[in-house]
Amino acid sequence: MRSPVASLLLGLSTVGTLCHTADTTSYTNPLFPGWHSDPSCTYVSEQETIFCVTSTFIAFPGLPVYASKDLQNWELASNVFNRRSQIPTLSETTDQQGGIYAPALRYHDGRFYLIVSFLGPETIGLVFTSSDIYNETAWSEPLEFPVKGIDPDIFWDDDGTVYVTSADDERIQHYSLDLETGERGPIVDLWNGTGGVHPEGPHLYRKDSYYYLLIAEGGTELNHAATMARSKSRTGPWEPHPSNPVLTNRNTTQYFQTVGHADLFQDPNGHWWAVALSTRSGPDWKNYPMGRETILAPITWEQDGWPIAQPVRGQMEGALPSENNEGLNGNRRINEPDHVTFEPGSSIPSHFLFWRYPNPDHFTISPPNHPNSLRLTPSHYNLTGDASHPNDSITLLTRRQTDTLFTYSADIAFIPQAPNDEAGVTVFLTQHQHIDLSLVSGNGSSLAFRLRVEGRGNYEGELPYKVVPVPAAWRSGPIRFGIRAVSDSQYEFSVAGGDDLSQSVAVGCADSQIVSGDTGRFTGTLIGVYATTNGGPVSTEAYISNWKYEGQGQKIDNSTIIPSQ
Ligand SMILES: *[C@@H]1O[C@H](CO)[C@@H](O)[C@H](O)[C@H]1NC(C)=O
Ligand SMILES: *[C@@H]1O[C@H](CO)[C@@H](O)[C@H](O)[C@H]1NC(C)=O
Ligand SMILES: *[C@@H]1O[C@H](CO)[C@@H](O)[C@H](O)[C@H]1NC(C)=O
Ligand SMILES: *[C@@H]1O[C@H](CO)[C@@H](O)[C@H](O)[C@H]1NC(C)=O
Ligand SMILES: *[C@@H]1O[C@H](CO)[C@@H](O)[C@H](O)[C@H]1NC(C)=O
Ligand SMILES: *[C@@H]1O[C@H](CO)[C@@H](O)[C@H](O)[C@H]1NC(C)=O
Ligand SMILES: *[C@@H]1O[C@H](CO)[C@@H](O)[C@H](O)[C@H]1NC(C)=O
Repeated sequence: MRSPVASLLLGLSTVGTLCHTADTTSYTNPLFPGWHSDPSCTYVSEQETIFCVTSTFIAFPGLPVYASKDLQNWELASNVFNRRSQIPTLSETTDQQGGIYAPALRYHDGRFYLIVSFLGPETIGLVFTSSDIYNETAWSEPLEFPVKGIDPDIFWDDDGTVYVTSADDERIQHYSLDLETGERGPIVDLWNGTGGVHPEGPHLYRKDSYYYLLIAEGGTELNHAATMARSKSRTGPWEPHPSNPVLTNRNTTQYFQTVGHADLFQDPNGHWWAVALSTRSGPDWKNYPMGRETILAPITWEQDGWPIAQPVRGQMEGALPSENNEGLNGNRRINEPDHVTFEPGSSIPSHFLFWRYPNPDHFTISPPNHPNSLRLTPSHYNLTGDASHPNDSITLLTRRQTDTLFTYSADIAFIPQAPNDEAGVTVFLTQHQHIDLSLVSGNGSSLAFRLRVEGRGNYEGELPYKVVPVPAAWRSGPIRFGIRAVSDSQYEFSVAGGDDLSQSVAVGCADSQIVSGDTGRFTGTLIGVYATTNGGPVSTEAYISNWKYEGQGQKIDNSTIIPSQ
């Protein structure tokens, strides 16, 4: 990811020169590949560490906090939302794109504060706090407050008063918040932006003698942009940035589109950066299974006191802090491959995701007589489920697709007992859009592999459907189910069985536009395993072992795929 440009340039300028060559290194976007929208970051000088959080909607656990000292090596510090008591009604949230999104993460006086709107049966504002960010259970139960709309930001003014800025009713609204009682102060309208639709995603900063207000506008689609205004007073009048938008790729043919919803922060060297969301879709905006990801762009402050951002591309140049791989907490790195063996005494990795709350009894690690496996007890509902019963959990365990090209496999021991029994692997965007390869009862006493699609997203072609008999010699042992992104637009589904699980056979392919857009425009693909009775009465358990995921390439522009880091 890093190149020796900086040292090379410095090496050449040995004769005293008046020109200062910026000490830059090259890096690539996305910063956080895969479904990581609405990033918010903050620098904590006591720890010399940058912490970022992104949206998770109705996935659980939610609100992952990533930590880094150099903006390149990132680890998962904790999930802010990690237990059912924090948001009980997530289980009743029917909207596949509802739940918790667009958080803001800040640090004040020794504590981390995470503020967010929860769009469940009602919309409520939540503030979580922690003074020990690497300890997941140290995240508090949330303070509830009557948020105005979505995307709340939290800001401490010089006198210590806490202000929330959020988006409601097509305008940016601002009010004080009592962090003891959750009481909201009077509302003032701040700024409507530069004329784009849906002014939202506000963040308020104090720098030198100004308040800076950064917002998103244009909608989180091709016209998305980050715009800015400033004022000497917290409530305006606002002077718009003379070169708004600060950040956008609208009206370009770039591979990275929908750039907006930004946040600004400093690094340990005092350099400024923006994070924002972006979609790797090109201007066609049809094929983007990973949805909205997090990008990083360098910011420079001009003499007139306005920030300028480097335009968002796959290949970037910036004054990154020097590599600092030490001093974090030893947690999982964001780009580490998975090889999960579910050994006795282990727990489900903290980067794995359920859809709403799991039934904990349906996921058992190394049960009696099945060491090194995860027992899935099938859910009554299949992955599509029934939107009128959101409270019934589905037996689905996933991780994000984080690479344009990847290989995933899981060994599944499962012998369906009833006609509707089913267990397998999935590329899952929402309950209305997923591609599943499973083991099902065939006709009579036979077993079959079935490749089946729910929904079609942006895809207009013929949807794949295949039923293939399971070879008799494969019946006694586990079957290795594989999913491979063979290009940026095709998933290949395969199986292997018998004596040699490394000899896989392709069952079929599916286009990634099936899991792009439509009901999952705000989310991104998840890869994993599931088991269901499809409403039937018999509960036949499936045993998962040897879960592997490995990234094999990131597409960073129309024609370049680089190795996954
Ligand atoms: C983590 O936080 C919880 C809740 O505050 C606390 O009970 C526990 O002792 C902490 N764990 C560590 C290792 O500090
Ligand atoms: C901002 O937008 C709101 C909602 O559309 C509108 O009522 C208000 O007049 C606008 N304010 C300005 C200053 O344009
Ligand atoms: C591009 O610019 C035109 C007008 O200049 C605007 O109407 C359009 O919405 C912009 N965005 C895109 C994605 O084309
Ligand atoms: C990238 O490819 C798209 C077609 O998918 C095209 O419209 C666009 O102009 C290309 N962009 C560049 C920068 O080459
Ligand atoms: C999933 O369940 C629904 C009813 O709950 C049913 O209509 C649908 O056919 C099931 N899908 C499969 C693949 O069996
Ligand atoms: C959902 O399930 C929880 C826990 O089982 C229960 O307390 C709650 O009442 C249920 N809600 C609905 C709407 O059924
Ligand atoms: C069962 O047989 C029917 C008719 O031959 C066929 O269409 C279907 O795919 C078979 N189902 C399975 C699961 O093998």
